[in-house]
Formats: sequence, C-alpha cells, structure tokens
Amino acid sequence: MSVVTSIAQTAARAQARNLLAVASGKGGVGKTWLSVTLSHALAQRGQRVLLFDGDLGLANVDIQLGLTPAKDLGTVMAGQSGLREAITQFEEGGFDILAGKSGSGALATLSPQRLAELRDQMLQIARGYDLVVADLGAGIESAVRTIAGAAGTLLVVATDEPTSLTDAYALIKVMNGTTPGADIRVVINQAANPSEGEKTYKTLLRACTNFLKITPPLAGIVRRDDRVKDSIRHQMPILTRHPGSNAASDVATLAGSLAKAP
Ligand SMILES: Nc1ncnc2c1ncn2[C@@H]1O[C@H](COP(=O)(O)OP(=O)(O)O)[C@@H](O)[C@H]1O
Ligand SMILES: [Mg+2]
Repeated sequence: MSVVTSIAQTAARAQARNLLAVASGKGGVGKTWLSVTLSHALAQRGQRVLLFDGDLGLANVDIQLGLTPAKDLGTVMAGQSGLREAITQFEEGGFDILAGKSGSGALATLSPQRLAELRDQMLQIARGYDLVVADLGAGIESAVRTIAGAAGTLLVVATDEPTSLTDAYALIKVMNGTTPGADIRVVINQAANPSEGEKTYKTLLRACTNFLKITPPLAGIVRRDDRVKDSIRHQMPILTRHPGSNAASDVATLAGSLAKAP
C-alpha cells in the first residue's frame, strides 16, 4: 500500500481520539476490573468519563459494581431504547456506564452493519465526555476489532502467563495490520512486583520489535493484589474499598498518565 493510500484510509476511518479501548486477546487477565478502576480514577481526577461495557458476549461491569441498570445494550439491540438513553450514572464513582448484556449470545454475533452503526453512535456520544473507556471482550473477533479500530488509544492488557502474552501479541499484530500507526500501549497486570512487570513487558516488546517492527510503549504496571478479589467479591470499586492498596494506587498512576490535560 502506498503512503498516500494509507494516510487517506487513516483519515477516513471512523475514530474518536478520546476513545480508550481495553483489550487483551485472552480472557481473565483483568480487563473489566482495570476498566472499572481506571474510569473511577479518571473521574476522581475530575474527568468526565463514560465506561462502555463492550464485552458484547459476556458483560460484567455491572456485576463487578453490583449494579442492576434498567437499560443496557440489550435494550438498545432490542430497539427498546437508544444508546444514549441506556447510559446509567454511577454516582458513587462519579462516572457514567453503558452496561452490557450478560449471556446474550446475539450481541456477540451482531451483523457488521449493526456493529458499525453502534460504533458510529458511540463516536457521537464520546463527544460529550473527556474519555470513553471501552472494556472489550476476549478474542479478536469482529466486535473487538471494530471498537478497537475506532479507538484513539488501544490499551493491551497482559499478564506474565505465556498464553496471555501470545494472545496479546496476536491482538497487537491484527490491530497493527488493520489500523497501521494506531496508538497501542501495553499494561502489565497482576505483576508480582514492578521489576517482574517490566520483564514481562520486555518479552512482549521483543516480539513486537522483531516481527512487527513496532515498539508499543508501556503504559503501566499493576501489581497482583488480593484486595482486587476482595473488592470484586463485595461488588465495590477498589478505590472505595481499598483506596491505599497497591493495585489501586498503580491504576491511579496509570490514570494520571492517560488523563486529558485540563
Ligand atoms: N491486579 C490484580 N491482582 C489480583 N487479581 C486480579 C488483578 N486483576 C485482576 N485480577 C483477578 O482476575 C479476575 C478476572 O478479572 P476480569 O476483570 O474479570 O478479567 P477480564 O475482563 O480480562 O476477563 C478477577 O476476578 C480478579 O480476581
Ligand atoms: Mg471482562
């Protein structure tokens, strides 16, 4: 592809600079918890944040927070509400949530056209916020690629498990292929300590440098912390329940580096 064609395609691509997509390839690495905590930390810094539960097959932002929103993506898909009307205020956290729809297989198999419509409505809604954090599902299927491709920044979450690293690499490879020049950054979650986290990042970086010729920067390292599980079990945000914990303060640091300048 020529440089001119590539630039033209980038310009034409439906994208919001203030859309931050959180993805990982592998499930269970902590995307949803990180998305919730990051949204909370950004709200505490005074940012207007919308957390979009984009895990269209297995939504669980509402479950982690113990919310039962009256409207969610399910009601949107059923034509019972618009996307904007389905936004719930999470007052305790100071941010808005667009909840997903747990166990609704239909959402995971949306037609490309419906998916594109949804994405375009999201891009409209994003204009009313400083940042929209989109918690994406596992895998690299079309819902993930569509939303990640529309994001100004893609946060790839990985742990030191080999399966997580290979899946994170596969995700970066696909997104780099479909949206060349995308702003892709890495978060290492569940790190034993900062230097182990650094090592894990270097392993992933080496694969990206050698095979893709790109160097996605490290956005942050979040330490493994038992208080994450405790907060989830109590369906409370960690920044409320254990604000001084290692994991909470690591995410607060990450939020500081991502927050839009006032
Ligand atoms: N920093 C962390 N320290 C300890 N446990 C964590 C951490 N981050 C995530 N977890 C654990 O991982 C589990 C999966 O997290 P979740 O956010 O649901 O992952 P995903 O959305 O990637 O599937 C959580 O229930 C929690 O117990
Ligand atoms: Mg999840």
